[in-house]
Amino acid sequence: MNQNEIVSRPGHLTLAMIKPHAYREGKIGKIISRMEDNGFKILMMKSAQFRREGAKIFYREHAAKDFFEELVSTMCAGPVVPIVLAKHNAVLEFRSFLGNTDSSKADPDTLRFEFGNHKKIMENAVHGSSSDGEAKKEINFFFGRELELASKVDSLENKPSPI
Ligand code: CMP
Repeated sequence: MNQNEIVSRPGHLTLAMIKPHAYREGKIGKIISRMEDNGFKILMMKSAQFRREGAKIFYREHAAKDFFEELVSTMCAGPVVPIVLAKHNAVLEFRSFLGNTDSSKADPDTLRFEFGNHKKIMENAVHGSSSDGEAKKEINFFFGRELELASKVDSLENKPSPI
């Protein structure tokens, strides 16, 4: 699958994001390995650092919640790893694999049970898009520039050479 096909597969893509505490604790490799073992294909992945404004935009649906400011600070505390995952019914499948938002209440075979901090709901190791619409927005948030560039490269490849 090339990067242009990524945007033309709604319903089969989701955005996962490994959070700063899991990054700090050296859990990236194990988390990615679990994703692959559970049938998720990694299409795009990078390391990124949130600025406060970016974190506020990414989590805008929680802006009215009392934990919003702490959520923004927690997400800006260090690098994150956003990942575009592909699987049939990716959003629902990944949310089920993530488990309960509160790691201490998650089922034992979920990512959050294994990698989340059971004493801090905020440190639940991994984020997953909540709907297909959110997945599209979140993928664009982190990978919009790369996808745009890939489409330019593709359109160059499809044109006859000028020389
Ligand atoms: P995430 O999937 O990234 O989406 C929003 C995040 O807010 C969530 O994971 C948790 O980290 C955090 N969160 C959700 N509910 C609460 C809560 N009641 N108290 C503190 N943090 C929360």
